[in-house]
Amino acid sequence: MTIRSYKGVEPKINLNTYIDESAVLVGQIEIGADSSIWPLVAARGDVNYIKIGERTNVQDGSVLHVTRKSNSAPNGYPLIIGDDVTIGHKAMLHGCVLGNRILVGMGAIIMDNAVVEDNVIIGGGSLVPPNKTLESGYLYVGSPVKQARKLTEAELAFLKVSADNYVVLKNEYLEEL
Ligand SMILES: CC(C)(COP(=O)(O)OP(=O)(O)OC[C@H]1O[C@@H](n2cnc3c(N)ncnc32)[C@H](O)[C@@H]1OP(=O)(O)O)[C@@H](O)C(=O)NCCC(=O)NCCS
Repeated sequence: MTIRSYKGVEPKINLNTYIDESAVLVGQIEIGADSSIWPLVAARGDVNYIKIGERTNVQDGSVLHVTRKSNSAPNGYPLIIGDDVTIGHKAMLHGCVLGNRILVGMGAIIMDNAVVEDNVIIGGGSLVPPNKTLESGYLYVGSPVKQARKLTEAELAFLKVSADNYVVLKNEYLEEL
């Protein structure tokens, strides 16, 4: 079983969502309509929860996890991802909050309590350190990330196009099932 419960709590997955059969989803995970989870994604909602919005795609080999409650972090750090987010191949998202219409480049790492506001691009291979906030409307690159420049109108439009492309793609995959 690749979709399984932890302490009796099972992932809640919308009917229109595509989950590749090689992905592993455990525990308290909620995935909104028209989202897609691609091969070899590992998402573990055990010591805290994971929430993924609508029309968001999590590409191959990405790892999603969370941080438990503690004295220094009374709520711990859940992982919350908004709508129309594209998460590139082999990204690592840990206990962070992502808004809407974001591109997380391939292999990027986003750490606990980081916040990515709406309409942001994070370059491939970048590292977003704990507690950092990425401001809406900008490109961020590097390890640790630095604000590189404002996004162009074309790039801002592309964020939605990218998410929509993946909705079409996952519908094609759903037809194969
Ligand atoms: C971030 C990205 C969109 C930037 O593309 P771009 O328009 O060519 O960027 P720019 O030319 O404006 O680059 C700005 C600066 O950041 C640097 N840069 C670009 N991408 C970078 C990256 N991933 N890591 C580090 N630096 C990067 C550029 O070299 C440039 O540096 P300079 O000003 O010193 O010359 C692109 O490089 C990228 O990483 N895309 C991710 C694609 C992806 O993973 N998609 C998901 C899978 S489908």
